[in-house]
Amino acid sequence: MHLSVFSLLILGFGVISSRCAWPDAPLVTSGRWIHNAKGDNVTYAGVNWPGAADVMIPEGLQYASIASIVSGIKSLGMNAIRLTFAIEMIDDIIDGGGDVTVSAAFNKALGTTNGPVVYNKVLQNNPQFSASTTRVQVYDAIAAECFKQQIYVHLDNHMSKGGWCCSTTDGNAWFGDTYFDVTKWKRGLQFMVTRGAKWGNLMSIGMRNELRNPEDNATLNTNSYNWPTWQTNMEAAAKVINAANPDILIFFSGLNFDTTLAPVVAGTGSGITFNKSDFTFPDKIVLELHNYQNSATSCSSIESSLVSDGFSTLTTTTGNQLPMVLTEWGHDQSNNDYEGVYASCLHSYLPAEHVGWTIWVLAGSYYIRSGTQDYDETWGLYNHNWTAWRSTAAIDSLTKMVQATLA
Ligand SMILES: *[C@@H]1O[C@H](CO)[C@@H](O)[C@H](O)[C@H]1NC(C)=O
Ligand SMILES: *[C@@H]1O[C@H](CO)[C@@H](O)[C@H](O)[C@H]1NC(C)=O
Ligand SMILES: *[C@@H]1O[C@H](CO)[C@@H](O)[C@H](O)[C@H]1NC(C)=O
Ligand SMILES: *[C@@H]1O[C@H](CO)[C@@H](O)[C@H](O)[C@H]1NC(C)=O
Repeated sequence: MHLSVFSLLILGFGVISSRCAWPDAPLVTSGRWIHNAKGDNVTYAGVNWPGAADVMIPEGLQYASIASIVSGIKSLGMNAIRLTFAIEMIDDIIDGGGDVTVSAAFNKALGTTNGPVVYNKVLQNNPQFSASTTRVQVYDAIAAECFKQQIYVHLDNHMSKGGWCCSTTDGNAWFGDTYFDVTKWKRGLQFMVTRGAKWGNLMSIGMRNELRNPEDNATLNTNSYNWPTWQTNMEAAAKVINAANPDILIFFSGLNFDTTLAPVVAGTGSGITFNKSDFTFPDKIVLELHNYQNSATSCSSIESSLVSDGFSTLTTTTGNQLPMVLTEWGHDQSNNDYEGVYASCLHSYLPAEHVGWTIWVLAGSYYIRSGTQDYDETWGLYNHNWTAWRSTAAIDSLTKMVQATLA
């Protein structure tokens, strides 16, 4: 085929503009930093958008449009969402021979009286959806709106069986637990990162939220809940993800509800040897922790816990130096907690350490939580009906943290 000089010029500009256009993917790590394709540091300052509960559809759509919710996130200056999903959704797609429609999902989770009522509100607010829209298409739509508004998507596998997370007896606690089928888990991760490769703004994925001791299964708890089992499964899943989507960062969460990664940072101990350079994709590995020391009485105690839990990865010279993201922390938004010890501490400490974060939680209410429909979330940034912030004072304070993080 003959290419004119003119078309070559157009092709040339196409290459240049795609290399320099947001989101400047892929992200890579270098030591403790995350860089975009231009070599600039990237730090997440974002919010959790839950989608892994019983309905397995991201929350809030019966009250607001996707566009208005994303605009709200953008108005805070945030650059990322941690979008959670349940493996059961993918099981339904693959084993059930097609995704469940949004309409069927509401009927199943909320019953045939309330289900259609909530579903119709979802359609009123989001008229681009219809009777044939499936759950995973809602994920596509959220990602597309985030792309439009230049917000990164970080996927998080929150649960195997859709439901409120997390307890040690919910059957989702550990590899091999009642609902935590390891094969289906890896298949689900593979499915979502393959799908997300088309979004353009899927930058990373958390392999599993809050691994914890499966207390109601003594055998599993005693023989399997340990670092060697963690390493076997997390490394295997990371390889599946990287093979399916080599561009995205892969977040490794720790034990005890993702509050410790100490042996991983040290690289040795607790029965494991972990070396990022043993991976064929060492520049895709990121660590994530959660922190809910909400009753701490001093910032120094929070800081020292974070360092020993895994923030030492930022400065270690003998262990694995990796980026760290605090993918969950949060507090009641309906009182003065935003100016208490815990929130004030993280508001200053995380930006000072150049650590990314996603606060729990965007939701003003949940479709259903632990059996209660239209459950009010007092930790939610939004009010019950997702129309305004729950507390403008708390939001002002959070907005300053976003600015400090991205400064
Ligand atoms: C990333 O930010 C840190 C801290 O400000 C700085 O030391 C480092 O040089 C930056 N890296 C790049 C590639 O900008
Ligand atoms: C505990 O977990 C193991 C591993 O998945 C399973 O084979 C066993 O049936 C479980 N035991 C109980 C009592 O649930
Ligand atoms: C990982 O392996 C490299 C290359 O062998 C070595 O230089 C480094 O010290 C190891 N790191 C850890 C944490 O063991
Ligand atoms: C949303 O809730 C607020 C109070 O929380 C109320 O004032 C407002 O009328 C509600 N809006 C809708 C559309 O329900």
